Amino acid sequence: MGLSKKPYKGTRDFFPKEKRIQDYMFQMMKKTAESFGYESYDGPLLEEVELYKAKSGEELINEQIYSFEDRGNRFVAIRPEMTPTVARMVANIHKEVSKPIRWFSIPNLMRYEKPQKGRLREHWQFNCDIFGASDRWGEIEILQVAVNLLKSFGANSSMFEIQINDREIVDCIFKNILKVDSETSYRLYKIIDKSKKVPKDAVSKMLDEQTKMTDKEKVQFFEYLELKSFSEAVSYLEKNNQKDNTQSLKSLIDQINILGLEEYIKYDPAIVRGLDYYTGIVFEIFDKHPDNRRAICGGGAYANLLKIFNEEPLAGVGFGLGDVTLKDFLETHNLLPDLSLPKNDLYITFQDENCLDESLKLAQNLREKDLNVVTNFSALKFKKVFSNAEKAGAKFVSLIGQKELDNKSILIKNLKSKEQKEFKLNQIEEVYSFIIEGNNE
Ligand code: HAM
Repeated sequence: MGLSKKPYKGTRDFFPKEKRIQDYMFQMMKKTAESFGYESYDGPLLEEVELYKAKSGEELINEQIYSFEDRGNRFVAIRPEMTPTVARMVANIHKEVSKPIRWFSIPNLMRYEKPQKGRLREHWQFNCDIFGASDRWGEIEILQVAVNLLKSFGANSSMFEIQINDREIVDCIFKNILKVDSETSYRLYKIIDKSKKVPKDAVSKMLDEQTKMTDKEKVQFFEYLELKSFSEAVSYLEKNNQKDNTQSLKSLIDQINILGLEEYIKYDPAIVRGLDYYTGIVFEIFDKHPDNRRAICGGGAYANLLKIFNEEPLAGVGFGLGDVTLKDFLETHNLLPDLSLPKNDLYITFQDENCLDESLKLAQNLREKDLNVVTNFSALKFKKVFSNAEKAGAKFVSLIGQKELDNKSILIKNLKSKEQKEFKLNQIEEVYSFIIEGNNE
């Protein structure tokens, strides 16, 4: 019996057509990150499993991590996320470099998930993180990077929204209003994280099973979960004698308005995120289209992650945006350009085998001028010339026949305008100009 030709469950083969789409998305990510001065970095595929156990949260560790013992008896994991790696790397250098540190990366990550729409076992994730930014400006900039990326594909606020919350506020509610201990607070975070996916009764049941909250506290908890806007959150805090704890939220709202991000932002009390390291804002970008209601991106602020390396705390904030969910989003809103064909400048063909040498020489001369040139290694029947050139995504096709060979010339045709011109084989500069001018039309 032959071996299966399928890739491992939940992973993808990227045939050139799919890879072109991924490359296009990566180019836009890189361009957007660089437009804010973020620098590219990368880390290893394997990390010691302890790195994730420290702060990544129970779902990731208990259910999703690919971990194993290596030949040297070390317990390692294939990276399920990039944040612990970037924190580890920043912990190595933060004392020597000026702040803020702005870094981006597009790693592939593996999580043992049930493959379904928008969820695979391997995905690529655009990570942007900023460390050591003052006040809340790092958080705002990170939101801006994510918005700019989606706008660069042609998306607008009718297509996506940033659902946002602040863990400082949630902590304040747990500690000062519900007055629960830290273990209950941890459980409440997990319950809130699941609350969007289940009905209110099920949330109530989880509260009964996992906490010792009184009926009054439960009412306050559900009141919190029903808050619909920043102003309702501020009123809720004020009503519960927490006026002094509203300042930071108010300045976040002000800064969002200053940068004109308010049209994208929606306060959502149920966004707390499953990863344990977040301490400040937490957010998810949601597709608003009814056929694709899912998170394209998730992120937040983490003030204390460097502490796991015995370093002084350094404020970090960032997001991860997955290639699977981004592609679904772009397809749902018809925002992907036509990438069905490769992109080449010239397809060189000939009708007679003894033209091969000249055609290869010409191709090489034009490549040295930065053109993308596809050659044929055997004579091509005339009727196949144009269909082959189109499949190669070429904008121009050239023909060398015996007549051209005798004249030491070549015929080049612009496939779109149908204009064609004859050149001497040594007129490289002229051929180059003809192609460049045709490309710019
Ligand atoms: P996350 O919410 O686990 O955050 O993942 C971020 C995004 O990655 C998700 O919104 C989704 O687009 C994509 N994603 C995650 N898991 C999968 C999967 N199994 N299949 C396809 N796409 C997936 C983090 O990973 C944080 N470390 C992000 C971060 C960076 N926070 C701060 N800096």
